[in-house]
Amino acid sequence: MRTHSAVDVIRAKRDGHELRDDQIHWFLSAYTAGEVADEQASALLMAIFHHGLGPRELATWTDAMIRSGERLDLSAVPFPTVDKHSTGGVGDKISLPLCPLVAACGAAVPQLSGRGLGHTGGTLDKLESIAGFRTALTNEEFVGQLAEIGAAICAASGDLAPADRKLYALRDVTGTVESIPLIASSIMSKKIAEGTDALVLDVKTGEGAFMRDLDDARTLARTMVGIGEANGVRTTALITGMDAPLGLTAGNALEVRESLEVLEGGGPPDVVEVTLALAGEMLALAGIDADPAAALADGRAMDRWRRMVRAQGGDPDAPLPVAPLVEEVRADADGVVAAVAAMPVGVAAWRLGAGRARKEDPVSAGAGVVLRVAPGDTVSRGQVLAELHADDAAHMAAGAEAFAGAVRIGAVAPTPGPRVRERIAAR
Ligand code: URA
Repeated sequence: MRTHSAVDVIRAKRDGHELRDDQIHWFLSAYTAGEVADEQASALLMAIFHHGLGPRELATWTDAMIRSGERLDLSAVPFPTVDKHSTGGVGDKISLPLCPLVAACGAAVPQLSGRGLGHTGGTLDKLESIAGFRTALTNEEFVGQLAEIGAAICAASGDLAPADRKLYALRDVTGTVESIPLIASSIMSKKIAEGTDALVLDVKTGEGAFMRDLDDARTLARTMVGIGEANGVRTTALITGMDAPLGLTAGNALEVRESLEVLEGGGPPDVVEVTLALAGEMLALAGIDADPAAALADGRAMDRWRRMVRAQGGDPDAPLPVAPLVEEVRADADGVVAAVAAMPVGVAAWRLGAGRARKEDPVSAGAGVVLRVAPGDTVSRGQVLAELHADDAAHMAAGAEAFAGAVRIGAVAPTPGPRVRERIAAR
């Protein structure tokens, strides 16, 4: 048997060489087991950040991440399974209406989700603003709920791609998050281990996204679609714009409220557009011929939402938490809303208390931003542009400072573009 040394693996990548399959498998398994130190893994991550991973290396790296833990077996679910993953954005609450909507059309959606960190919110934090909602399900509960209701949104267990859990925490503190092979393998290892038959990726591009540049978003989307297909998971991607926040709210309970509007057949047009586009892709991959717009309009999606919330211990009729302090932000000039910038809105929601700076921080359910205008609206001086919601004065002050300049008022209306920019499928 070949003996390995972490230093040899690091040196090889540092000098721009391709890593062998046995080196990759050994390194990731030894790191997961605690036999390779964090500083050695950090050095390898930085070398990969600079030199990338070739197609074979990336396939092996992803496979090793999947093999570091369990792979869920969803064969007991009597519906085709199809999941969605978003690379994250401000006001991105799409999973909330999408999961019950696709379930109402006949597929099962096994959504293992995460928490918010920094300026983008997390689906689990949003759902936990519903009284009683449990995001920690056992594998048996998760599979049982999918078999019965077709919709479940919960936290991934510690046994799912544990190598990624350790590496992601390290990347966060070593400046190695923004690497296409590392992002692609991180996301896809978790989704493949989750056991879904098919997957639709929502890759965000623009000022409030990880991948600001459209070309980078395309490369990331193509890389992830390639990994999915190579692992037997039918995968497509939509590239969607994230220059402006999605919808009019950013914050946990505020986003649940807006999702309920969508499930009632209303809601902001951009949230509805992205929800229906993703639902259409998911149903096509699942081989189901159904009209998701009809399922939103006639209440089937809402019924499914209520069943999902109840199954996870939540009360769908309980009032959502509200923050005690609300401040209005007013226009300082007459004009047209030229842009609402995603980044300051996301940072404001975070500082108001909706997000966390460290994994262990608590979040406020009621805090966040409610926009009262959208790009293209005519406004007059003194008109309310947004409401800021917070639990206390310190958070309110920090949020107000971050929000400054988020709504840009100009002389001409912007030309509205579609949120869905491109579709990427396997060649
Ligand atoms: N989300 C993930 O799960 N991993 C990344 O690397 C980036 C975003």
